[in-house]
Amino acid sequence: MWSTSRLALTKEMSQNPSNVLEEWASLEEEFQHLQETHKLYLQKLEEISKLQNNCSSTISRHHKRLKELSHQVKRCGNSSSPEDSKTMDAIKDKIKMRPNVLFEMEAFLPKKNGLYLSLVLGNVNVTLFSKQSKFAYKDEYERFKLYLTVLVLLLSFTCYFFASYRFVDAILNFLLVWYYCTLTIRESILITNGSRIKGWWVFHHYISAFLSGVMLTWPDGELYKVFRNQFLAYCLYQSFVQCLQCYYQSGCLYRLRALGERHNLDLTVEGFQSWMWKGLTFLLPFLFFGHFWQLFNSISLFNMAQLPDCKEGQVLLCALCFLILFLGNFLTTVAVVRQKMKSRNQKAKSQ
Ligand code: COA
Repeated sequence: MWSTSRLALTKEMSQNPSNVLEEWASLEEEFQHLQETHKLYLQKLEEISKLQNNCSSTISRHHKRLKELSHQVKRCGNSSSPEDSKTMDAIKDKIKMRPNVLFEMEAFLPKKNGLYLSLVLGNVNVTLFSKQSKFAYKDEYERFKLYLTVLVLLLSFTCYFFASYRFVDAILNFLLVWYYCTLTIRESILITNGSRIKGWWVFHHYISAFLSGVMLTWPDGELYKVFRNQFLAYCLYQSFVQCLQCYYQSGCLYRLRALGERHNLDLTVEGFQSWMWKGLTFLLPFLFFGHFWQLFNSISLFNMAQLPDCKEGQVLLCALCFLILFLGNFLTTVAVVRQKMKSRNQKAKSQ
């Protein structure tokens, strides 16, 4: 009842020309205001783009000058008095630290895409300009990895226990190819935005995509059947380990975000470090077991390739891929752990 009378009132008002004029005047005022704000926004954008160019060129000049200066310092170090050599050492230390600071600055400046991103995306800017959006992108990347890993886990479980059909295996391998290709793109974007992902992990995903592609083309024969269960069990295990790894890495991300700073932490670093060590020591046995499973797959396939009735080239290709994966994963993980232990010891000493 009330709403119908209100409707009638509004109708009556809209038929009144003075009300229409009033509404138009208010709209005009709002539009003027919007135009001014938008003009200001465009001006600021132009200012920002000038500042970005300015910073980028100064950074590249600074890099060059640092390089020249470090050569000079080296030359002076040989022929200087003890006092001078102390000053030179101090300068050397500062020069060593500078590239890290410049790297962090560059993460907030637009960059030309590398070859891979230019080929896949073209020359579109992928730099995210705030810490929040960088965190949000990384967070979404970890979630994407987790969802896809769970999907792969379910699918390989189904293939292993319930569906022994070549076409279901093909779906699993196709999903893996797509997943790893997507990861390489997302990781290149992360690297452009200042992530310190080691080159090996990106390369690992290229090789894994290739390996899954080769598995996809392996014809359904006796040899395929022999290797199938071992491969599916490996996929199951790897997905399980990747779930643990995602849990650890998103834990690191949340804690770093809680600390408020990304790479140059100082205050509550200890809490973070002890959590990280607990997570890492829990994770490492699972990771190393996975690496040796890769070696085992490689050896099994190399043995298979020597059988007289082995005609499929896929056997040797997969064996090689597993061997490269084992070597790269094992050596990089050992290097990461050694580096983390070294920096922990250094911190303990400096305290
Ligand atoms: N894939 C993708 N990104 C990785 C990665 C991986 N395997 N390992 C590390 N990173 C990223 C981190 O997220 C971090 O990114 P950020 O700078 O954007 O925050 C950066 O690389 C530096 O990480 P780092 O401090 O070197 O290592 P970490 O503590 O995050 O992880 C390990 C250490 C050992 C847990 C991790 O490298 C790992 O899981 N390695 C083993 C992977 C593997 O072997 N898989 C096969 C299992 S069978």
